[in-house]
Amino acid sequence: MARSAVLCGLGSYLPTRVVTNADIAAELDTTDEWITTRTGIRQRHVVDPEQCTSGLAVAAGREALDSAGLDIVDYVVVATTTPDRLCPATGPTVAARLGLGTVPAFDISAVCSGFLYGLQSGRALIGAGLAETVLLIGAESFTSLVDPADRGTRPIFGDGAGAVVLRAGAADEPGAILAVTLHSDGTEADLITVEGGGARARLGGDPTPAYIRMQGRSTFVTAVTRMEEVTRHTLTEVGWTVNEVDRIAGHQANARILHSLAKHLGLPAEAAITHLREVGNTAGASIPLALHHGQRTGLLRPGHRVVLPAFGAGATWGAAALTWPNLKQP
Ligand code: UT7
Repeated sequence: MARSAVLCGLGSYLPTRVVTNADIAAELDTTDEWITTRTGIRQRHVVDPEQCTSGLAVAAGREALDSAGLDIVDYVVVATTTPDRLCPATGPTVAARLGLGTVPAFDISAVCSGFLYGLQSGRALIGAGLAETVLLIGAESFTSLVDPADRGTRPIFGDGAGAVVLRAGAADEPGAILAVTLHSDGTEADLITVEGGGARARLGGDPTPAYIRMQGRSTFVTAVTRMEEVTRHTLTEVGWTVNEVDRIAGHQANARILHSLAKHLGLPAEAAITHLREVGNTAGASIPLALHHGQRTGLLRPGHRVVLPAFGAGATWGAAALTWPNLKQP
């Protein structure tokens, strides 16, 4: 049996401060009703400056290590769009604060698909025999990129972190990552951008603030199409029919996107885990947070066949498939 990466630990952390739709509606030209019906989001958690992305990542990572029963790993990978600083990467800070010594640690920048890109990286390290264990964390202080005056993005994004531990195992074990399919299309880079802070803006002397700008409607339509394509491809790769899928634990951008995806695939809306009601869109953290929510609430049960599709800035997109393992309750 081929050597595989097996999901064996899960953790999450949400900052304690909660911002409701009513809080946002008190400051912007929007309503709780608009946000709820157009996105499915009711509240989001927002980080304090003292805590920031590394703090969220450390808390989620610690819980994942505990759940896996490990206190050391061979690699640390942090998927984030919002590193503590532009330089250095956040991974080494997180590894040091977790007491993991001089373990190799790096960041992945693939925005809302970052967790899937990290999953593929961890899987490749384990599959190639270069690592026995990998701690993969998706962590975001995404609200730091949001223009407080932009009603098109401020209601959508939130902060948080989710983490998984991968270990070497066999492909027929529950928790084995059976497939990861990834794509990108740089011709769609302008769908979602943060101009300020990047080299292009700095070299051009452009003082544009580092705020996210999103072409919401175009992103919505492309996300549904791409996630359906990549989910179908991934199912073919693992040999499952659509009807054999128990849960979609997809990127939590919009409940309507997740329900449309389920409908296009021919699955009931309830097959899609919708955690964004409580946390909003947490970009690179959203899939592991949705997995943690599924595990905690019993929406994910051992033996469930689960697909993890995502689409986001880049454009980047992808999907992964696994059979849900029997995890120690985080
Ligand atoms: O995570 C990375 C990937 N991101 C995504 O996948 C996000 C995808 N996009 C979306 O989730 C949705 O497009 C949004 C939630 C961002 C927007 O929803 P929509 O149904 O696509 O709305 P829209 O942008 O087409 O705007 C419809 C109307 C417009 O008014 P008019 O032109 O019809 O008069 C907007 O100005 O809603 C207006 N609008 C708002 N109204 C109240 C836009 N934002 C708001 C708001 N409150 N916050």
